[in-house]
Amino acid sequence: MEALYFDHAATTPLHPDVASTMSNALTEAFGNPSSIHQLGRLSRKIVDEARTVIAKSLGANDKDIIFTSGGTEADNLAIIGTALKHQDKGKHIITSAIEHHAVLDSCHYLETLGFTVTYLPVDETGVVGVEAVKEALTDETILVSVMMVNNEVGTIQPIKAMGELLEDHQALFHTDAVQAYGIMPLDVEALHVDLLTVTAHKINGPKGIGALYKRREVKLQPLFFGGDQERKRRPGTENLPGIAGFKQAVELFLGEELNRQARFKQLKALFEQELTTIDNIVINGDEKKVSPLICNVSFLGTRIEQVLMNLDLDGVFVSSGSACTAGAMTSSHVLKAMYGEQDERTLSAIRFSFGLHHTEQAMIEVTKRVKQTIERLRKLSE
Ligand SMILES: Cc1ncc(COP(=O)(O)O)c(C=O)c1O
Repeated sequence: MEALYFDHAATTPLHPDVASTMSNALTEAFGNPSSIHQLGRLSRKIVDEARTVIAKSLGANDKDIIFTSGGTEADNLAIIGTALKHQDKGKHIITSAIEHHAVLDSCHYLETLGFTVTYLPVDETGVVGVEAVKEALTDETILVSVMMVNNEVGTIQPIKAMGELLEDHQALFHTDAVQAYGIMPLDVEALHVDLLTVTAHKINGPKGIGALYKRREVKLQPLFFGGDQERKRRPGTENLPGIAGFKQAVELFLGEELNRQARFKQLKALFEQELTTIDNIVINGDEKKVSPLICNVSFLGTRIEQVLMNLDLDGVFVSSGSACTAGAMTSSHVLKAMYGEQDERTLSAIRFSFGLHHTEQAMIEVTKRVKQTIERLRKLSE
């Protein structure tokens, strides 16, 4: 039976072009980018060129890109790094209840250091209102962090409007754009953000490499020490194969974001149309302001573990929420924030997420298998 991978929000397969670029970088460009001999200079060139491409993909300046080990580290650096640096101006931070744990746990850590964090609630569609941010702001607020696209339900937040609101406030504005990258054109100037997180493995690039955009004037406290790399903001010998692969992955989508969006909108519409032939389902999240790469569905009356296990046996690979917490099978903090802990929709939600190799045929085949599985499970529990 053909395996159907529908978990691209957790991670994506490496694109073959990325794999061959990385393979060259692994074998040929083994010099340390900090070495001044020819081999070092070759590696430095790879890092510099990658920085230029990634900066371009965000409408940023090369100097404003800091390579990190991925989205988690970029979020930590953005939040903890700026909070520690700016605490003389206040110790209040605003975020939302539906952020990735890389943001939430960074905020929890800051609370242990005496910072106060407001976790903004969301409505049933998973949207954090601009008004809510406005009301939560105080003279003590030094940072606001709201994600651009939610990784579990795909809801798109009004980041530009929040950025505009914060223009006249001392608070820095960070957005985790991990799930928006590659599918939405991003421009840090137009969005009015000071800090923005991206990672390579959600865009058919390698795992273990990401970047933080940091507006030049914004000061942050590094979290690592021990070298001059990344202008001392993130010391450590660069992950050269990762950086080379990251650049290649970005080049594959750059300028194509809107075309990709249109293609996935069609595929997702077909997926949802086929899915709605199953009784008693709810599609979670905002109908319009939602990523075309994510569809979160509650199969009412079923249990997540049972559905995941049976779909796995049928060759359908999906998640019940963030991959980072899926192993623990705790109910999703995102759906809890939208509906409450014991709501039937929270208890039966499955995330399908789409990727480059998907076709109309794959949409039809996956929904067929899902329908069979759900109907079988419902019969068994009658
Ligand atoms: C929204 C969001 N932020 C951050 C991360 C973490 O990125 P990484 O896996 O590169 O550490 C993820 C990955 O699941 C994510 O979806």
